[in-house]
Amino acid sequence: MIELRGVEKVYHRGAEELHALRGIDLDIGKGEFLSIVGPSGSGKSSLLHILGCLDRPSKGTVKFDGQNIEHMSESGLDAIRRRKIGFVFQQFYLMPGLSVFDNVALPKVFIREKIDAEKIAALIVTVGLQNRMKHFPNQLSGGEMQRVAIARALANNPEVLLADEPTGNLDTENSDKIFKLLKSLQLRGYTVVMVTHNQELACRADRTILLKDGVCSFT
Ligand SMILES: Nc1ncnc2c1ncn2[C@@H]1O[C@H](COP(=O)(O)OP(=O)(O)O)[C@@H](O)[C@H]1O
Ligand SMILES: [Mg+2]
Repeated sequence: MIELRGVEKVYHRGAEELHALRGIDLDIGKGEFLSIVGPSGSGKSSLLHILGCLDRPSKGTVKFDGQNIEHMSESGLDAIRRRKIGFVFQQFYLMPGLSVFDNVALPKVFIREKIDAEKIAALIVTVGLQNRMKHFPNQLSGGEMQRVAIARALANNPEVLLADEPTGNLDTENSDKIFKLLKSLQLRGYTVVMVTHNQELACRADRTILLKDGVCSFT
């Protein structure tokens, strides 16, 4: 599904060069559940951004679904991001003024597609929030807010779900529930990649990779 070869990422801060990724080779199979662990600053988010075509590598190649993204235009990359990838973040990033339903439907608005109310409702059922459709984010618990964010990530029918520390703001019980939800999505056919600090959750993925100083090792 996603193939990385010799991927490097260098950030420039003034005259300073920061090597966030130093030669990553990684194959992520369709339908796989991969977890990425590693200390703070080891390059996990940088790697996830490249996996999600939010960023291009400074060096190396990325193939997404057989397509080499190197020679792709910005609009081509944008199409992949919007149609094939769903993102979930630690901070949820819900719109406070919108209901659960409207938050989940938002990606459809961005791609100017008609909102299929039944489909949006079905996604909300999938994440277990059928009784919260008309609630607003400030009426929800953290675990519920992350469920909304996950449903929203699925609105455009992506193939891959990328989650950057999705349980970072949640207690143990809610973290476990979110993990189980991600696992159930894998069983529905999604490819799932989760960055986490939680070793216990990481171990429950199909495979875990460890990042350290921008270098990847397999555990
Ligand atoms: N946009 C950026 N500009 C400059 N440096 C960055 C940027 N993003 C990340 N970095 C640096 O790259 C390194 C890896 O960061 P990151 O990928 O966020 O690691 P992690 O998610 O594992 O904490 C860190 O040293 C960080 O400060
Ligand atoms: Mg990070």
